[in-house]
Amino acid sequence: MTAALPQVSRFVFGTGDIGINLANEKQERELVEFAIESRLWFHSAPFYGGWKGDGQFGTPMALKKIFKVNKKIAGLISKFSPAAPVEKFEERIKQNIEAYGVEKIDVLQVTWDHDISDDLANGGPASEAFRRCKEQGLIDKVILDVIPETSAAARHAAERGLFDGYIYYYCPVNINVDPALHAYLLRSKIPVLALRTLGKVYLKQKPGSDFKHAYIKAEHAAEVYALMQESGYASWLEFCMQFVMGSAGIHATIGSTLSMDHLKAYLRAAAAPVTMTDETRQKIFALIRKYPYQVK
Ligand SMILES: NC(=O)c1ccc[n+]([C@@H]2O[C@H](COP(=O)([O-])OP(=O)(O)OC[C@H]3O[C@@H](n4cnc5c(N)ncnc54)[C@H](OP(=O)(O)O)[C@@H]3O)[C@@H](O)[C@H]2O)c1
Repeated sequence: MTAALPQVSRFVFGTGDIGINLANEKQERELVEFAIESRLWFHSAPFYGGWKGDGQFGTPMALKKIFKVNKKIAGLISKFSPAAPVEKFEERIKQNIEAYGVEKIDVLQVTWDHDISDDLANGGPASEAFRRCKEQGLIDKVILDVIPETSAAARHAAERGLFDGYIYYYCPVNINVDPALHAYLLRSKIPVLALRTLGKVYLKQKPGSDFKHAYIKAEHAAEVYALMQESGYASWLEFCMQFVMGSAGIHATIGSTLSMDHLKAYLRAAAAPVTMTDETRQKIFALIRKYPYQVK
């Protein structure tokens, strides 16, 4: 565990599926309340869940109703696009806080914006704006969302200590970051948060079936599934969680579900001792290298 984001739960409840369909409201409330009681952190974005009119988006709207009654959430990671003028950051972060009805955004996840890439990589008005928001208690920490194309610039940012952590896809079918940046962050003990716990689309389809709409190739799916079975894992969830929980320097993983059984399975897996062998891990890495793909 690294020091800069000490309190983030090892499994973070991703809310991308919450607040989309009103018919799921009761089930979602039970899930979110269970997550609050279990002291899980939440991951969200002010634009998740679709436009519901009147300036509101489905996910924050649904969460706000629950957070209003159950005030003590362990923590919230919320996405922030730095596209607007820097002078507007403070106002937009306040709107973000208001959208969820929380006291502050515990971790602000900044997505990349090419118009201010130099600022994000080297420091400038944007970093100053985030610093001021921290001073005012609007946010606690700021992390940067990274993909392979932005990894070199993120390395500059990391060397300058501009962000409290970094976040990218990291699961047994995809590590969507430049390996050199990943190695640097681990060496420097800078926290990394992992996205896409279960490789998402892979899970939704049967191994060996047509993967043309999925991220990974059918051959990759078949090989990684065979590896899971030969390594003695009874479920894809257990395999993925063992992989990410046992990855040095990965602070937490963000996954999602609308099922209570699945949420409980995530929690059990997050609490389980890591037994995945280095040999299995190396085979997972070898398959990722053999079947490279990039999330767009
Ligand atoms: N760049 C970004 O910031 C970014 C990008 C992607 C995702 N995210 C965040 O990460 C969260 C999770 O994203 P993800 O969807 O990519 O995560 P994921 O954990 O890889 O996949 C979640 C999917 O797996 C299913 N699932 C969960 N447990 C299962 C089980 N035991 N058996 C079968 N299916 C299971 C869920 O469906 P059920 O409802 O059926 O369980 C859900 O659709 C999002 O909600 C969002 O908060 C952020």
